[in-house]
Amino acid sequence: MAVTDTQKADSQIDFDAIKILTAEESKAVDQLILDELSSDVVLINQMGHYIIGSGGKRLRPMLLLLASKALGETHKSHLILAAVIEFIHTATLLHDDVVDESDMRRGKESANAVWGNAASVLVGDYLYSSAFEMMVRTNNLRVMGVLSKTTTAIAEGEVLQLLNCNNPETTEEAYLQVIARKTAILFSAATRLAAVISDTDKQIEDALAMYGQELGVAFQLIDDALDYKAGSAEELGKNLGDDLAEGKPTLPLIYAIQQGTAKQAEIIINAIKQGSRESFADVFEIVQCTEAIEYTERCAERAAQNAIDSLNQLADSPYKDALEQLARFSVQREY
Ligand code: IPE
Ligand code: IPE
Ligand code: MG
Ligand code: MG
Repeated sequence: MAVTDTQKADSQIDFDAIKILTAEESKAVDQLILDELSSDVVLINQMGHYIIGSGGKRLRPMLLLLASKALGETHKSHLILAAVIEFIHTATLLHDDVVDESDMRRGKESANAVWGNAASVLVGDYLYSSAFEMMVRTNNLRVMGVLSKTTTAIAEGEVLQLLNCNNPETTEEAYLQVIARKTAILFSAATRLAAVISDTDKQIEDALAMYGQELGVAFQLIDDALDYKAGSAEELGKNLGDDLAEGKPTLPLIYAIQQGTAKQAEIIINAIKQGSRESFADVFEIVQCTEAIEYTERCAERAAQNAIDSLNQLADSPYKDALEQLARFSVQREY
């Protein structure tokens, strides 16, 4: 049955209403971020403010803060770690846009398009290092263990993805391995760290980590679907078709190869091998007619439901409800 516009509007998540729940803490986190960006090296200041000032959804710090509130009190270390997670995220974006040769990010020219690849890599490194410097301020060895494992896994995910590039034989399983590491683990660290600082039992900590991991998987599945969705680059704040241009075998393409006719599969296989935007129109059409976007969205819905199920361990609160809503938002989002 077709979903009407009204039904769609009814089920739309009010992201701004959720933001209000952590507005005060988020302000403090923003201040921490700004303080940390002040370096006497002008380019660091400039680029740092450019990318952080362009906004972004700030979803990861919001998840950490909501989880901390769902567990009780929010401590100073929660605020520090929310800033740390956003710094790590931003560092990965600076690096990612170099690797993916993307020229648009957060609705503006990407930092590499403005300042070049070398500057982006180096300032990305600066943000990573600052994140670790800030993390030490929590004086908590468990926190350091979680975050260092996380950044190692992200790097592994990025390298694994590089190895899969231009390889049309990449399996769904191999793809899921990549997204678990390059994206989901940072979400998982965010929600786990909320529990570590709140000193909860291991069971609650693991449930929150599982929530972050599954939400992160859903989030990246949708990100990969959006690259082939008819939405506008303006709303998304980044270009469509970047994944194809890089020859990235994401789930929409893996599924379309499986489901398409021999001729259709061949077009996609060649496009992945070639890694160019040239056949985007054909690939786009095959992705639509094999219903590969719907398939990817169904996988994302399943992951989001797993995330929501993990929240059963938490006591009821508006913050728990917001975490549930954000898992749904990760699937419904169009930006
Ligand atoms: C983009 O993340 C990178 C992915 C993991 C897909 P976001 O979509 O959270 O980026 P911003 O921070 O809102 O710009
Ligand atoms: C996510 O992958 C990047 C990281 C986790 C660093 P993408 O390459 O799909 O992210 P976008 O689409 O450029 O934001
Ligand atoms: Mg990218
Ligand atoms: Mg993407």
